[in-house]
Formats: sequence, structure tokens, C-alpha cells
Amino acid sequence: MSARAAVLAGLGGYLPPRTVTNEELSRRFDTSDEWIRTRTGVERRHVADPGVSTGDLAVEAGHRALKSAGGGQGAVDMLIVATATPDQPVPATAPDVAARLGLGTAAAFDVQAGCSGFLYGIATASAALTAGHATRVLLIGAEVFSTVLNPGDRTTAVIFGDGAGAVVLRAGTADEPGALLAFDLGADGTGKDLITIPGGGARQRSTGRPPQPDAGYIHMRGQETFAEAVRRMGQSSQAVLDRVGWSADEVDHVVGHQANLRILRTLAVHLGVDQERVVSHIQEAGNTSSASIPLALADAGSRGRFRTGDRLLLTAFGAGLTWGSAALTWPGLTPE
Ligand code: UT7
Repeated sequence: MSARAAVLAGLGGYLPPRTVTNEELSRRFDTSDEWIRTRTGVERRHVADPGVSTGDLAVEAGHRALKSAGGGQGAVDMLIVATATPDQPVPATAPDVAARLGLGTAAAFDVQAGCSGFLYGIATASAALTAGHATRVLLIGAEVFSTVLNPGDRTTAVIFGDGAGAVVLRAGTADEPGALLAFDLGADGTGKDLITIPGGGARQRSTGRPPQPDAGYIHMRGQETFAEAVRRMGQSSQAVLDRVGWSADEVDHVVGHQANLRILRTLAVHLGVDQERVVSHIQEAGNTSSASIPLALADAGSRGRFRTGDRLLLTAFGAGLTWGSAALTWPGLTPE
């Protein structure tokens, strides 16, 4: 009998309707459409309106994933929200999202692993399903990064955007299309200063001093982050390929964290995967952190890019430092 595995059963994405183009940013910052396109691949990003939070986007994406999975909210017994921009420090964003989605008393909690949150979430969901702690899990990656962007920092303003993506996972077996077959997760806290939002936590409050004016904004050391992203996603992807027993040639699609198109292109070269197998959604949405991989999956899936049984490699890198990768086959579902 085939081994137990989590199986992808539903997929949905939601981008807030308002877009900000590179042209608009070049009126606010010393930058240009040409610089942003060539250095990052981003053409526009979606931005939540004032008053719209991460939980609001998560509910929209959650609805869509449940619809893609054929409805049946009552059967979801665990909700995980992966986010680095939660609605508030306490409580977690997930219980409120669960209540708004009508999930009853399903277990609900947040995962915070920076831009690797979706990969950490999918590994956690998969473990719960294969251990028998859950039979159906809704995992949502959702972010409103626009709320933590320093209005004076062009580097972060050009790449980050808002959005949410969600998957429904069910208990199944490894021989089914849609099965998650292998994972790799890792972290290195010695690199914690590369990407930070320093304020708002116990570290800052424990000093007894008021926070610096920019403490609530994201700070990123771009060049070093770029190099670490390529290195860590490369190593992690290779670890997953070794575990699942696929050669680079056998990977049909690489769905990497959409941080920068140049990172995805360089990663493909390091892995020895053809560039046309790299899935990119960054043109439309920028870097949506925990939401970027499910959004890229939903976009490519709805365009008919994947065929049932195709081999997908997911890989992400983010603040922490954290990274993670997963191998799965495509189930042939219709994303919402
Ligand atoms: O999601 C979590 C993980 N995050 C990432 O993986 C992001 C990784 N980093 C990056 O994507 C890139 O480092 C950035 C897009 C953030 C920056 O691109 P870069 O090619 O690394 O730029 P740089 O920092 O090396 O700067 C190159 C030049 C500098 O000018 P000089 O010193 O050469 O004259 C910058 O001042 O580009 C300048 N620059 C800009 N110019 C126009 C930096 N940002 C901008 C900008 N517009 N927005």
C-alpha cells in the first residue's frame, strides 16, 4: 500500500483590486520603470485599501480555495495562516479568519517564518495530515506588506505587494496526483539582521525606551539577502530533489518565492533547470511574502500551465533567515 501523504485538493488566490504601477512609484521615488523591471521583474503590485487587513485578504483567498476543493467548510479541521504581517500581535490572525469562513471550532493558528511561511505551513499541515491529527487542512498565506513599507525607502517599496493565496490539503496517499512527496526546512538565526521589522515586540519594549520612528517598517539588506536567497533555496531545492529521487530534468515546474525575477533565474541556472520551467507571477504582484507561492500556483494553474501528474518543486527563502522546499505532483484541479 502506498504511503500516507497530504494531497493538494483546492487552490485559490486573491489580490486586492488596486494596483500601483512602476510609473506611479517613479513619481514618488528616485527610480524608474526600467530600473524596477530589469532589476526585479516587477511591473505592478496590488495594494490593499486603507482599513483592509491581512485577515480580510485571507478570508477572500480561503473562500476561493474551499470553492476550488468543492466546498464543504465543515470538514476542515485545521486552519493555518502563514503571515509576517498579522492583524495584531495577539491573538493570532487565524482564529478570526476561521470564524469568518464558518470553520466552527477547527484548530487555527499562525505560522511566522518570513517569506518561507507558506513552505513551513505546508510541511506542518502535511505532518498533521499524515499523523492523523487532521483530515482536511486549509493553509492560507496572506500579507499586507504595504503597512510596513517605509515611505522613504525605494528599495522595499518597489518589490513588495499585498495579496493572499490558499490551499486545501487532505489526507491521502503518495501515489495520488497532488501528493506532497518530500520536504526540506531550515533556518539560520545568525542572519537575523538581514530582514527585520525591529519594533513592536518584547525585544524593543524590554528596553523601556520608545521605539525609533522607523521601527515598525521593514528593513532589508538587499544585496546580501539576494545572495543568501539564491544559496539557501538552491541547497534546499537540491535536498528535496535528492529525497524524492528526481533529477533536475524531471522537474516540470519550479515555483519559487517571488522575491525577484533575477533570483528565480539564477536559481534555475544553479539547479540546472530550463528557464521556461520557472513559474513567475512577480510581474503582476511583486513580492507578496507568504502569499507568493500559492498566488503563483493559482495564476499558472488557472492559465492551464500544469498537467495532471506534472512534477512541481516549491522553494522559498525569507526573514529569519528561513528557507524551505517541497516536491509534489499536480492534481489537475481548477484554481479559483
Ligand atoms: O522576500 C524576502 C527575500 N527578499 C529578497 O530576496 C530580496 C532580495 N534583494 C533584491 O531583490 C535586490 O537586492 C533589490 C531589488 C532589493 C535591490 O536590487 P540590487 O540590484 O541588489 O540593487 P543594489 O542594492 O545593489 O543597488 C544598485 C544600485 C545602487 O546605486 P549605485 O550605488 O550603484 O549608484 C542603488 O542605490 O541601484 C540603486 N538602487 C535603485 N535605483 C533605482 C537601489 N534601489 C533602487 C531603486 N531604483 N528602487
